[in-house]
Amino acid sequence: MTALLSTKDVHLAYGKKEALHGIDLDFADHSITALIGPSGCGKSTFLRCLNRMNDLIPHTTITGSFQFHEQDIYAPTTNLVELRKQIGMVFQQPNPFPFSVYENVTYGLKLAGHNDRKFLDEQVERALKQAAIWDEVKDNLNKNAMSFSGGQQQRICIARLLAVQPDIILLDEPTSALDPISSAQIETTLMALKNEYCIIIVTHNLQQASRIADRTAFMLNGNLIEYDLTSKMFTKPVMQDTSDYLNGKFG
Ligand SMILES: Nc1ncnc2c1ncn2[C@@H]1O[C@H](COP(=O)(O)OP(=O)(O)OP(=O)(O)O)[C@@H](O)[C@H]1O
Ligand SMILES: [Mg+2]
Repeated sequence: MTALLSTKDVHLAYGKKEALHGIDLDFADHSITALIGPSGCGKSTFLRCLNRMNDLIPHTTITGSFQFHEQDIYAPTTNLVELRKQIGMVFQQPNPFPFSVYENVTYGLKLAGHNDRKFLDEQVERALKQAAIWDEVKDNLNKNAMSFSGGQQQRICIARLLAVQPDIILLDEPTSALDPISSAQIETTLMALKNEYCIIIVTHNLQQASRIADRTAFMLNGNLIEYDLTSKMFTKPVMQDTSDYLNGKFG
């Protein structure tokens, strides 16, 4: 596998308490990787390292290597605004801005200095189509994004992120607050997006991981236990802990 993003020996401590104990994980482009494991094992912590969201939490110490293209993500010269555009994140609770759909999707582009109406219109349509929400909102682009359903809001958030042309999309349990139909729509959206992006998703839903992820990483107590093709891990896990987790014995 050629990795778009490669991490080695990642340790993270909150104050004196170490939450990640040396994680090595490579992520391929044009694929979906799932991070699974019981509550508190460090999935969100690890995901947040990838676009430096943990920088916002005081008293965290992060060591290890994070290579993205030729770039060291933790280099002092890294521009965090640019980094988070290239490596965007979607959260468990949909968090659109309390503005119109159009304003949400053009937000990042306007910040970057784009104000040509025709260009913005084209990007809004492209991003909303890629996020599979265009048909549902195209006649209501001026309506407040908060007035849509949770599942629609989540896809608007995905469109907001796609508007700025990221390379990597991080999602932390993006469907756990949604109903089954909305969840299925998000899964379909992600399956289509993986042709163009590197997608990394944290999920508690093992069926979801097995349906959509090319590769799956199983974490336990801040350690990476096993990382393999999803089809392989779900049928023939190597480690006993993986097998126990997949069989519902804990977590
Ligand atoms: N901001 C924080 N400050 C201190 N400790 C934290 C912080 N965030 C997480 N932790 C601790 O780090 C460990 C890993 O937490 P993390 O949220 O990454 O787990 P998770 O696998 O995402 O769990 P869940 O499935 O419940 O979301 C836990 O012991 C947690 O209590
Ligand atoms: Mg979490």
